[in-house]
Amino acid sequence: MFVMKRVVVIAIAAAVLFCLPLLTAGGGTALAAPSPKGSCKGCHADFASVLPKGHPAVKGTGLAACSSCHAPDLAAKKPENAYSVRMHRAHIPPKGKLECTACHSWVPGKSFGLIGRKGSFGKPDKEQMELLKEIFASWASSGYTDSLHAEAGIACSQCHGKGLPTFDDTVENAGCLKCHGPMEELAKKTEPKEFKDRNPHKSHLGDIACTVCHKGHMESKVYCLDCHKQFGMKIQGAAKK
Ligand code: HEC
Ligand code: HEC
Ligand code: HEC
Ligand code: HEC
Ligand code: HEC
Ligand code: HEC
Ligand code: HEC
Repeated sequence: MFVMKRVVVIAIAAAVLFCLPLLTAGGGTALAAPSPKGSCKGCHADFASVLPKGHPAVKGTGLAACSSCHAPDLAAKKPENAYSVRMHRAHIPPKGKLECTACHSWVPGKSFGLIGRKGSFGKPDKEQMELLKEIFASWASSGYTDSLHAEAGIACSQCHGKGLPTFDDTVENAGCLKCHGPMEELAKKTEPKEFKDRNPHKSHLGDIACTVCHKGHMESKVYCLDCHKQFGMKIQGAAKK
């Protein structure tokens, strides 16, 4: 099984390497997105109509025209990244139809970067890529915790840190509290007017993981209700839109 998988990966890597000269030459291959890779011309005659108001004028027809100012945040240093968020939400499912590889260079298991730029965010293999696509779609529009953050201009790396998230990754409390903390203030915000001790962030449970209640990419649930159904507490990100 392991050997089989490797052979497949090598075959794909070889196929990608073989196709690369074709793609960069702009030759429309079977793999091609609606326009040549990294080019935006097929859908946007110019950028003026889609760029935010007051944005500096941009020359060029491809992603390279953007990355000269918007250098990729490989080290995940930005406190938020509205550029990344808007580029993804406008173009990937469910709203858009672009393949990830319309803008990204990807050699399975080896690298994942931006077309025309050096540097890599990580090394997703095929299986990890499927997971990333699934989660990107959720983040773009699910109504769960992930998409509440996308709406606020928060990309994956602002929660997950440097490198591409993969199977079983999570976010520690400190990772959430760097934006929502300190804990005492969070608890103050959510103290009910009536029944002050029914506070989700200050209870007899003590210090527990945020993810016991706040799921990243699934329905969030108020754990208190497992034992106190009568509390009738509500939580953001509980329902699909
Ligand atoms: C397959 C067609 C297609 C391609 C290719 C495409 N776009 Fe778009 N783009 C769209 C559509 C559709 C929208 C949504 C327009 C709207 O909401 O009014 C959009 C929206 C945008 C927006 C506005 C996003 C926002 O939130 O305000 C920007 C900026 C943008 N595109 C830039 C680009 C760049 C840069 C490229 C090339 C890397 C590109 N697009 C390639 C179809 C495309
Ligand atoms: C001359 C430099 C420059 C170029 C080139 C450039 N931008 Fe920007 N862009 C900026 C600046 C400055 C801001 C505002 C600060 C920020 O958000 O980084 C900005 C902000 C944005 C935002 C809005 C973020 C928000 O706050 O909502 C989007 C979307 C965006 N740029 C898209 C693009 C796209 C797409 C391209 C390529 C077609 C591009 N930019 C090229 C300088 C540039
Ligand atoms: C329209 C172009 C475009 C498409 C399509 C696109 N991306 Fe991106 N992606 C970008 C740009 C530009 C960046 C760099 C943003 C930055 O770092 O500032 C980026 C960055 C990323 C990152 C870095 C992490 C982060 O938090 O932002 C990941 C992961 C990623 N893309 C995955 C995907 C996946 C998976 C798909 C397909 C579902 C996809 N992208 C489709 C343009 C695109
Ligand atoms: C609000 C912070 C936040 C943002 C933004 C976020 N995540 Fe997550 N992610 C989490 C949490 C929390 C978990 C832990 C699992 C859970 O509780 O749902 C998680 C888990 C994951 C996992 C492991 C899932 C599994 O099934 O094993 C992956 C992969 C992942 N995230 C990818 C992403 C990608 C890709 C993006 C951007 C499109 C993203 N995340 C944006 C918080 C976030
Ligand atoms: C990079 C900063 C950042 C990180 C990291 C982050 N958040 Fe957020 N979060 C925000 C912003 C900004 C908003 C939207 C504005 C607001 O409501 O505060 C938001 C919104 C929320 C909301 C919805 C609030 C509402 O009123 O709708 C919840 C719940 C939440 N975050 C929980 C979490 C959890 C749990 C984590 C860790 C897994 C986390 N956040 C990580 C910045 C962050
Ligand atoms: C026992 C379940 C539970 C745990 C654990 C939990 N929360 Fe919450 N959280 C809730 C509920 C319920 C709400 C909605 C209450 C409200 O908004 O009044 C909420 C609301 C929030 C909000 C939105 C607050 C606002 O402005 O309305 C943020 C941000 C948040 N939680 C972050 C966190 C972080 C960070 C952690 C971990 C340190 C955490 N939560 C742990 C249940 C929980
Ligand atoms: C595993 C079960 C369990 C969970 C989960 C749980 N509790 Fe409790 N809780 C109890 C038990 C047992 C008592 C003591 C018996 C009683 O008075 O109901 C209690 C008592 C209480 C009381 C005082 C009695 C009352 O009914 O007013 C409050 C307030 C309370 N819990 C709040 C919370 C909050 C807030 C959460 C979530 C952050 C939570 N509990 C989660 C089991 C649980």
